[in-house]
Amino acid sequence: MGSRIVATGRAVPLTALTNKDLERYMDTSDQWIRSRTGIGSRYAMRQGESLADIATDAGRTALERAGVKPGDLDAIIVGTVSSEYAFPSLACQIQSGLSISSIPAFDVAAACSGFVYALQIADAQMRAGDFKRVLVVGADALSTMVDWTDRRTAVLFGDGAGACVMVTEPGNRGVLSSLLRSGGEYWNLLSVRSTGTRSTIDSEVRRCADDAIQMKGPELFKIAVRSMEEISRLVAERAGVKLEEIDLFVPHQANMRIISAVAERLGLPPEKVFTNIERYGNTSAASVPIALDEALEQGRIHDGDIVMLNACGGGLTWGANLIRW
Ligand code: ACO
Repeated sequence: MGSRIVATGRAVPLTALTNKDLERYMDTSDQWIRSRTGIGSRYAMRQGESLADIATDAGRTALERAGVKPGDLDAIIVGTVSSEYAFPSLACQIQSGLSISSIPAFDVAAACSGFVYALQIADAQMRAGDFKRVLVVGADALSTMVDWTDRRTAVLFGDGAGACVMVTEPGNRGVLSSLLRSGGEYWNLLSVRSTGTRSTIDSEVRRCADDAIQMKGPELFKIAVRSMEEISRLVAERAGVKLEEIDLFVPHQANMRIISAVAERLGLPPEKVFTNIERYGNTSAASVPIALDEALEQGRIHDGDIVMLNACGGGLTWGANLIRW
């Protein structure tokens, strides 16, 4: 008995910030950001907005589309590093938002790979017979953790949430294979000391620079390309699928140049690669499920298609899920 994604959903903060808007806060330009990253705008939380609410909205949409009542879920698994509280987890807050109780709800901390990790865990527990219906969410708000004067990091990140409902199902559709990897030796290429103090772009209190996201961008870039390529090959091999059989590659949206380099190394033409980084920036764990939701909405995925989800992020962590839709 395998697991299959039956519906997805997404939600974002109310305000979109364009590159032009950012020129008011730091010495940058639309031209630099677009040419180096592919990002045109991103959604950023404002004072009074809550990631728990946004993530709950994404989950509710996925449940409605799946025709699954919240009360029929067996678990909620959330990839995030942005829970407003050290505890409770964001998963427990979503559980409360959906007015359900008694089922396990927990977060998985794998930064940008959070959704890919959460999906692997859900699939494994469903195969083991522990759960039949699981809500898997990827949600992050890294814009609240940047130093808004640091142009090297602040332009990259946006906020949001994506969700999917997975159900157990016999047959050959669903998750074919997943692989997860971490490289703890690279932990200091991308880090943030604490998620406790939020600093939205409109808040008066600014996060101090030492507590903001620290990133060694050029080093990360190279490792991201290498690891995303390698994990794609491994997960496909494990499932007995050739790379040319992939119908849609849905990678983490960190940088358009990373995505293009990975696709080129894998021999995937642009029409088989889904990107929406232009409108969202890097939404960390939300990036893959938001992209998946948009790909489905745009009719880019059909029954029987082979879809690969792939991500790399802080930890470092990376991973991939190969799915027959
Ligand atoms: N606007 C204008 N100029 C800028 C900006 C900006 N926003 N940011 C950097 N610059 C300048 C730098 O100051 C530097 O100028 P200098 O040479 O006078 O010092 C110049 O541009 C080049 O800077 P680099 O950091 O070398 O630029 P690079 O081409 O490497 O691009 C970037 C930087 C976009 C961060 C890239 O390294 C990258 O995307 N790395 C991956 C990081 C990433 O994706 N992190 C997210 C999490 S990890 C993941 O999700 C895979």
